[in-house]
Amino acid sequence: MCGIVGYIGEQEAYPILLEGLKKLEYRGYDSAGVALLSREGLKIIKAKGEIAALEKKVGQRFPDGNTGIGHTRWATHGVPSDSNAHPHCACTEDFTVVHNGIIENYLALRLWLEEKGHHFSSETDTEVLAHLVEHYYNGDLLKTVQEAMKSVEGSFAMVAMCQSETDKLVCARKDSPLIIGVGEGENFIASDVPAIISHTRKIYILEDGEFAVVTSSSVDIFTAEDTLIKKEIREITWDAVAAEKAGYQHFMLKEIMEQPQALRETMRGRLLNGGREINLAELYLTSEEMNDISKIYIVACGTAYHAGLVGKYVMEKILRLPVDVDLASEFRYRDPLLDEKTMVIVISQSGETADTLAALRLARSRGNKVLAITNVVGSSVAREADRAFFTWAGPEIAVASTKAFLTQLLSLYLLTLYLAKARGALDEDSFECAGKALFDLPAKVEAILSREQEIEEIAGYVSKWGSTFFVGRNLDFAVAMEGALKLKEISYIHAEAYASGELKHGTLALIVEGIPVIALLTQKAVLEKSMSNIKEVKARSGYVICFAQEGAEGLQNEVDHIFYLPATEDFLTPILSVVPLQLLAYYTAVARCCSVDKPRNLAKSVTVE
Ligand code: F6R
Repeated sequence: MCGIVGYIGEQEAYPILLEGLKKLEYRGYDSAGVALLSREGLKIIKAKGEIAALEKKVGQRFPDGNTGIGHTRWATHGVPSDSNAHPHCACTEDFTVVHNGIIENYLALRLWLEEKGHHFSSETDTEVLAHLVEHYYNGDLLKTVQEAMKSVEGSFAMVAMCQSETDKLVCARKDSPLIIGVGEGENFIASDVPAIISHTRKIYILEDGEFAVVTSSSVDIFTAEDTLIKKEIREITWDAVAAEKAGYQHFMLKEIMEQPQALRETMRGRLLNGGREINLAELYLTSEEMNDISKIYIVACGTAYHAGLVGKYVMEKILRLPVDVDLASEFRYRDPLLDEKTMVIVISQSGETADTLAALRLARSRGNKVLAITNVVGSSVAREADRAFFTWAGPEIAVASTKAFLTQLLSLYLLTLYLAKARGALDEDSFECAGKALFDLPAKVEAILSREQEIEEIAGYVSKWGSTFFVGRNLDFAVAMEGALKLKEISYIHAEAYASGELKHGTLALIVEGIPVIALLTQKAVLEKSMSNIKEVKARSGYVICFAQEGAEGLQNEVDHIFYLPATEDFLTPILSVVPLQLLAYYTAVARCCSVDKPRNLAKSVTVE
């Protein structure tokens, strides 16, 4: 996820681009850059780091020019650096592009372009776009971009600028957001509304497969086949603060709602053919290495640790390998049992958590290869691990982790199925069935999110209590732990997670009339056992809020409130069942007027022990 801005009009472009980039910094801040068409020709300035670094580099005398493009980067291909910062040029400075998204076939395109004599100066996937435009250029920038994009696979929102057609910007979109702001004698392009809302509230939303030619006085939108599209201008009614959160009250809710898309990004290029194939060649694991694994050790903190707990259940069940999960802060101070056949996996959204990094270093110092599941390219964990598997969730701003967790789970599922295939742990039918069920999950998460009001009502009840319990067996226990953590950290309500069967060994003493007990009952194999535990709670007048799969009908008579989740394979339910728990924590915190995005005493990235 990166941020794009474009301007064409009569004003100086640089201050407008800079202001827009600052509003888009939430989309990433590994580097920033601008390209301006000035009277003396093209000027490009780029700097590694936050927008402030670009501003400092430019200094007091900013470059002139009434047309320009800008970019704030969240690194995907290539580490954060000046040379990998956008805008990117082709061999000459005639063509400049900014891009948000991932070009999946960039390597093949780069080799093809290199054969044709193109020279590359960055490690990015984006640079191929500039060279493709240069390669196909026929005197008409729109037609050239349409032609160039035919060979591109993946997701993109891009803007191209050309020195021989200075009166226009051309942009295109597939699977990454792009809007065009309509002004008086000037027009704007941006990844998101906050970048342009101080200039105009009139926008076009570009849809997938659409291309636009934007001049200072016109916006023309076309299909890939060059048919002109008539579109309605939309009026933005949000205020500027709400716009940064896409109209949501908090980043946390925005990020919860982004989860279907985040899952699709994690799957992109990995889960293919409707789920029938998995390709994780990016991990460079040989079949010998995969077959040699005798034990897996997962290490992480907080929410990422809970993802690891789910990973343990799933990997042990499918791969029939022993899996240990440890908190990084414990792992680093014990003498963990690792041998040369142990595969160590660390999970970290930020890639900067001090304990996780120390655990990674400990494992490597013992001679073990470490695979990192992380969201941030260029982070310490990504750089120091032997292999990195990126979750592609996009920047997570709210302190409480939501979309990162879902994409960590999905990454573990993908890895499990990939190893299962290599080790022959699943027959063809079971593999296909699992892959297809995985592929269907984003739509099921969407269906759950559309019922947020039901959860808001439950939150009204929970918010009045000072203490709650989350219970479940097996995979449901791991999700119960995550649900309890979410509620604690943002609503400040005491929440404890228990394996359902453990309540009777002491905790049942705390069950009093009306106390909320959130029960997860998604696992068919232990449904009846879990039901007996629910009855123990009901017998002490606890208030049971139950989450179960569709098909487990009849439970509604046994509990106080039931929320049926769309049915899926039992081993995949965590991706669905955690979503209403995130919403429950969110709406409970809102009902208690808590600081949702920045809870007290916490930080997004814990870089201290
Ligand atoms: C809870 C939360 C934390 C993080 C933990 C690890 O909502 O966000 O528990 O999961 O601090 O952070 P990362 O994944 O960045 O290593």
